[in-house]
Amino acid sequence: MNNVASRHFLSCNDLSQAEMMFILRQTETVERLYKTKRNDISQLLRGKILATLFFEPSTRTRLSFETAMLRLGGQVITMEQGSSSSVNKGETLEDMACVINCYADVVAVRHPEPFSVMRFASHSKIPVLNAGDGANEHPTQALLDLYTIYKLQKLNGNKKTVIGLVGDLKNARTVHSLIKLLKYFNVQFVFISSSEVKLPADLLEDVKKSGCGVQETADLNAAMPELDVLYVTRVQRERFECQDTYQRVKNLYHVDEKLLQQAKPDLSIMHPLPRVDEIAKSIDTDPRAVYFQQVENGIYLRMALLLLALSITRIVEVVA
Ligand code: NCD
Repeated sequence: MNNVASRHFLSCNDLSQAEMMFILRQTETVERLYKTKRNDISQLLRGKILATLFFEPSTRTRLSFETAMLRLGGQVITMEQGSSSSVNKGETLEDMACVINCYADVVAVRHPEPFSVMRFASHSKIPVLNAGDGANEHPTQALLDLYTIYKLQKLNGNKKTVIGLVGDLKNARTVHSLIKLLKYFNVQFVFISSSEVKLPADLLEDVKKSGCGVQETADLNAAMPELDVLYVTRVQRERFECQDTYQRVKNLYHVDEKLLQQAKPDLSIMHPLPRVDEIAKSIDTDPRAVYFQQVENGIYLRMALLLLALSITRIVEVVA
C-alpha cells in the first residue's frame, strides 16, 4: 500500500478504505515503537525539513506537527498567522508554494478560505498536508479522531456504533472530514444541532448514500442514552457573518454531569479542542472523557503521516 506515500493529503475524499486502514496501522506501529524503542525512530527523518504555514490561529495542530517532526529527527521552519509573511504584501498562495518548495521537504498549511490549500498544492512538488481550509476540511484531525475511536475498540463489532456529533455542524471542518472516514464503518450517525448550524446538505446526502444510518435532531438530551460516542464541537465564532446568529446558537449545548446521567457507562466523549463552554471542566476527570487522549494520539498520527509523506512506508523494516 504505497499509494498514500509521497503525495499531498488534502481531503478525506482522497482516501480509499484500504488506505485509511493502512494509515491507522502505521500509526499503531509508530505509537508502539515510540513507547518501546524511542531511540530507534528518533532519526528516521534526519536531514528533512517540515514547513508549517498557518494563516489562521492554531495551538494543537501546528505544535503537534512540529513535535512529530522533531521526534523523528527532522527540523521545522514555521510562519505563524501569515501576518509576518509576504501574503500581506499581496503574494499569492501559488507563488508562496513555489517558494516554500525551495526550503522544505514537506509542508503543513492552514488557511481560512475553503479549498485554498488545494490551490497551494497545485503549485507544490513537495507533499502538502491540509491542516484546515476554512470551514471545509481538517483531514489530519479526522484521522487522529478516527484513530482514537479505533483504539477504544468502538469500531470492530458487528453491532452498529452510534456516533452523535453535536454543535456547529455547518462550520466544524473536523466533523466534515471525520464523517467521510466513519462512513466506511458500521455506524449510525446522530447529527445534533439547531437548524441554523446543521450539517451541509451535500455532506448529509453523501453519508446517506454510503448506507450508514442517519438521524437529525436538535435534542441532545433525548439522543444521549443511545450514543456510544459523543463528538462535541465548538461553535465556530470566526465563521459567522452575523454575530446575532452566533449569540443565538453559541450556548445551545452543554455537556455536564446532569446530561451524562442518561449516558451509557462506556460512552466516549470527544472534542477536537479548543473548547469554550461546550463541556464542563468537571467532566475532565470522568473516564469517559477522551479529548486529551485525542491530543496524544495526534502526535502518533502526524508522525505516521510525515513518514508516509517522506516515503517511509515500512517503518518496522527501516528500524530493524
Ligand atoms: C479545530 C479546528 O481548527 O478546526 N481545532 C483543531 O485543529 N484541533 C477545532 C476548532 O477550532 O474548533
